[in-house]
Amino acid sequence: MAGTAETLGVGIIPYEKIDEIVKKYKGDSSAIIPILQDIQELMDYVPKDSIAYMAEKLGVSPAKIYGIVTFYAQFRLQPMGKYMIMLCEGTACHVNGAKLISGAITDELGIRGGETTPDGLFTLEKVACIGCCSLSPVMVIGGETYAKLTPDATRKIIKEYQQKEEAAQN
Ligand code: FES
Repeated sequence: MAGTAETLGVGIIPYEKIDEIVKKYKGDSSAIIPILQDIQELMDYVPKDSIAYMAEKLGVSPAKIYGIVTFYAQFRLQPMGKYMIMLCEGTACHVNGAKLISGAITDELGIRGGETTPDGLFTLEKVACIGCCSLSPVMVIGGETYAKLTPDATRKIIKEYQQKEEAAQN
């Protein structure tokens, strides 16, 4: 479930639900990964405040949990943006300039892989081959595939999404 910071209620941690999750695993400090998975399922990401709370409940250091969250790509420390940009970094896309496309996205939005824009609109995920190598380099935004990208075309596509959002707010 994606949404803006507002719709996701960022900042509001359902501590009683986290208590239930920790209880489900009997407060076992070796169950950090499944507990984090449950928290992410509940919140759509792992809020930093939930890490401190969970650490206290499990009797481990917040640094240990933070280390796990940042080690595994499956965990997000920020909510997902309204639009997920999946940029392919498979071999064909890599050879055909995926790095330039990544640079254009970072220039345009100020985010890198795994990050979300402060306005909650875009999240960038770098993924392996998405199965249309002959059209590389490729990215997918909100289920729409954009092929044979150039940095300029990428900037234009992102601007179109931003303009669409602006128009929807007016
Ligand atoms: S490598 Fe990018 S679509 Fe296959």
